[in-house]
Amino acid sequence: MWNFRYTLSRKQESVIEAQATTDNVPQQTSARKDGRRKRLMALFALAVPLLAAAAPKTAPTAATPADSLQVLHWWQSASERRAVDLLAERLGQQHVQWRDTMVPGGSGIGAGIVLRSRVLAKDAPEVAQLNGIVIRDWARLGLLADLDQVAARGDWDRQLLPGVAALIRPGQHVVAAPLGIHRINILFHNRALFARHGLAAPVTWPEFERAAEVLQRAGVTPLAQSSEPWQVATLFETLVLAEGGAVYFRQLFQQREPAAFTDPRLGRALARLRALKRWMGSPVRELTWAEEARKLADGSAAMLVMGDWAKGELNALGLNSERDFGCGAVPGTAAFHLYTVDTLSMLAAHPARRGAQETLAAMVMQPAVQRDYSRVKGSVPVLRAPDLGAMDGCARASWTLFASSAAVHAPSMAHRMATDETARDAMVAELHRFFLNERVAVADTQRRLGVIGRRPQDR
Ligand code: GAL
Repeated sequence: MWNFRYTLSRKQESVIEAQATTDNVPQQTSARKDGRRKRLMALFALAVPLLAAAAPKTAPTAATPADSLQVLHWWQSASERRAVDLLAERLGQQHVQWRDTMVPGGSGIGAGIVLRSRVLAKDAPEVAQLNGIVIRDWARLGLLADLDQVAARGDWDRQLLPGVAALIRPGQHVVAAPLGIHRINILFHNRALFARHGLAAPVTWPEFERAAEVLQRAGVTPLAQSSEPWQVATLFETLVLAEGGAVYFRQLFQQREPAAFTDPRLGRALARLRALKRWMGSPVRELTWAEEARKLADGSAAMLVMGDWAKGELNALGLNSERDFGCGAVPGTAAFHLYTVDTLSMLAAHPARRGAQETLAAMVMQPAVQRDYSRVKGSVPVLRAPDLGAMDGCARASWTLFASSAAVHAPSMAHRMATDETARDAMVAELHRFFLNERVAVADTQRRLGVIGRRPQDR
């Protein structure tokens, strides 16, 4: 057996030891042992800076009060921070302390690596932001505490929108507490810039192209976009939705039907992804999504395709959705809701913290918390009967569409709603390569995505 161990010091600097031993594998040749050791060390080299960043201010020891919870998440931007502070404050009102462990990295790539390493090292936090299919996979491994009693006490089945209820109960048990629903197929635009150039928010791709042309001639970057892999994948999946609608989207990313990967609609979405580069900054830089949102806010860019967490960020920058920016659908996707749901799962390794974990789970479902959290975060409540009057126009449109029917739902690939973690990571990497390297052909990428997407029964 290989033993992984790291320790986080309680001093200011984190000291991380990664120990790999091959004690119990005597039959291995030393060359093979060397290979495995190198791979293991490479894995830790990747995890170490993230682990250091994630080092809790107070390390979990027996002295930690029982009514505190260490929560691992990836929310770092101004609006995300506000959302965390709000949750921490409301939890504090219930006499449970929120011990914050933030691992930077949009869409949670770094947080996922740190969490896996910590679970392997038997140092799991009490609570983790685990979104989408990952909830199902971790529950199957027995890593998550069930929240059946909290859910029963709070009548979650009746309170929750059905799509969310299914997500947090992937098997027999409820294993996650849902925070909010984000809509991803949003095209934000800077209202002042559009007004100055006599433009209307584009609803179709030809309208988008015409507006982009005018803006570019005026010296404004038409489309804010980062080359960060998950941000490229986020834009791309909205283009798939525009080409094929929600049924095709689910066939491709959720059912992973072989025919969907050879479909010309996938080729057209890839071609559009590349064609849109013309409207982005040159070169396309790898900035955070919050930095891209800031470009829209300061008027250096006119449009942004991003999940509505960007609305939360624009609000945090002092902008108002009625006055300063618009949040229509990406052209061709108005009828659909490409979504991700933020959830918190309770790690089963902490039976002594069960009471505090249940307090947190019950707290996030309170209607007032749902309302206030989503207002800061940019999401919408997961409830069947939320306070619609407390929402702005963007949120009301998002909630109403999501609640209207499962037929309009497109579960995000980039944000783990549709596809398991491994396939998702491989698809994101492939799309990133296609985006950066103009010499990679559409047909090749389509074929490679098909290989990644292959289901066990098609192998
Ligand atoms: C998503 C997550 C959002 C937001 C975004 C950017 O996956 O659902 O809450 O954090 O990533 O990091």
